[in-house]
Amino acid sequence: MSYYYREKIHYKELIATFDDILILPGFTEFKPGDVDITSKLGPYTLNLPILSAAMDTVTEEEMAIKMALYGGLGVLHRNCSYERQLEMVRIVKRARSFVIDAEHIAKIKPEDSLSKAKYIMDTYNISGLVVVNDNNRVCGIFTKRDIPFIPADLKNGKVKDYMTKDVISIKPGVSREEALKVLYENRIEKLPIIDDNGVLKGLITKKDLTPQFPLASKDSEGHLLCALALSPKFPESMEAQNYLKEIDKYVDIFFIDVADFHKKVDIEGTLKLMELLDSYFVLGNIGTYEAAEYILTKCDFNQEKFIGLKVGLGSGSICSTSIQTGVGAPTLFATAQVADAIDTYGSKVSLIADGGFKHPGDLPKAFAVGADLIMSGHFFAGCTESPGYVDTIQGRKVKVYRGMGSKEARSSGFVSDRYSEDSKTLPEGVSDYVPFVGDLSGVLTTLKEGLKNGMTYVGAKNIKKMKKAKIGIVSYAGQREARPHDLLGRFEW
Ligand code: XMP
Repeated sequence: MSYYYREKIHYKELIATFDDILILPGFTEFKPGDVDITSKLGPYTLNLPILSAAMDTVTEEEMAIKMALYGGLGVLHRNCSYERQLEMVRIVKRARSFVIDAEHIAKIKPEDSLSKAKYIMDTYNISGLVVVNDNNRVCGIFTKRDIPFIPADLKNGKVKDYMTKDVISIKPGVSREEALKVLYENRIEKLPIIDDNGVLKGLITKKDLTPQFPLASKDSEGHLLCALALSPKFPESMEAQNYLKEIDKYVDIFFIDVADFHKKVDIEGTLKLMELLDSYFVLGNIGTYEAAEYILTKCDFNQEKFIGLKVGLGSGSICSTSIQTGVGAPTLFATAQVADAIDTYGSKVSLIADGGFKHPGDLPKAFAVGADLIMSGHFFAGCTESPGYVDTIQGRKVKVYRGMGSKEARSSGFVSDRYSEDSKTLPEGVSDYVPFVGDLSGVLTTLKEGLKNGMTYVGAKNIKKMKKAKIGIVSYAGQREARPHDLLGRFEW
């Protein structure tokens, strides 16, 4: 007797998703405010384990900057030219940092006149200039306090005769704390960063060190983290490769962006891309234990650069892959599958559960089945910071949200390789409106509170402990009861 087909739909093969489960409560000794939701992605620690999806109606520069400032990460989409991608990554990387890049520092030459120095400071409303020679070597600092009182001196004097020659400086790569210490100990406003050859590499000012966003996700130099979606297809033209190398300078993490990464051609392309580019890589999406096992054990990915696996196939709110093709690995199921493979092989890669989140309570569920971070488009497409305009339909404010496999998104041609390139006519996503929900900060606060409260009910003080939470499958009656019910209708889902 064959059990082949019956075993495929046996209980153990149940493809459970968020609504099918609930987390069991546990003993708690702390308050939600004590819960630690930080999570690792490669060498970076994110204070908020939440990513915005690499979609053209979700993450462009404005969303990416805000996500990083609030402690998460916005992954810039790739449905545009390399020129536009370069523009976006530059804007994100230069957005806010306690370090001003060398090329943006107001400089002056030692031989320049004092009146020129005064003119620059007055015009640009800055309090001081770094004095550099023709080789960009620092020879002094000239501030408003060095301007002589006597009008004749001001008229005829040269910068080199009035500047401070003993410049207090620091070496590249300093932390915010070290910089603050030097600034306060020496009671100075500006601190140049100078390398071993005396060349100006950056500038830190006291004003820029004030931590307005203490949770921000930053690189080692204090710039915001920058992530970009990337096709796994290796570009053969030198021009494209050079563009990618230029983009690479501003990116910290590339997210390989295909619906199903468990494919020979995509794996081969990614291996070549990892040789070409210096940044870290997150690979995905995948949906099964076997796919993770193959990637972790059979593919020879550079272990230094490979820092994450992204999972979930066909369960996004705008996805139609599962109904068009009959294939899918809903995010909760995919997360549990891949988490087991990561555990089995003792891998250090982080696990990102991507898509399908409908309510804040879905986040704790993803962590309980092994996720380190979560990614969503649905929660963020209606925010002020997402691309596109706020429209009004029947009195409701809305924004457009579209799948990257929708006819509309694919018409640009840039993301046709995200799905099967041979089938140009089969859309695997839809385009629709979502309610306008206001600023990202409000949405993130709700998600954060849902997550922290959920972890508190469980008694898990951090994400590592949350992975040990117990879970039960809920009956259909239980699912109905878990939501507001038997009311006049306003809150019925
Ligand atoms: P949510 O549920 O947050 O899902 O809207 C966002 C995730 O869905 C994936 N994605 C798609 N999947 N067809 C698909 O099958 C599509 O057109 C599509 N567009 C995006 C993607 O992983 C995203 O992060």
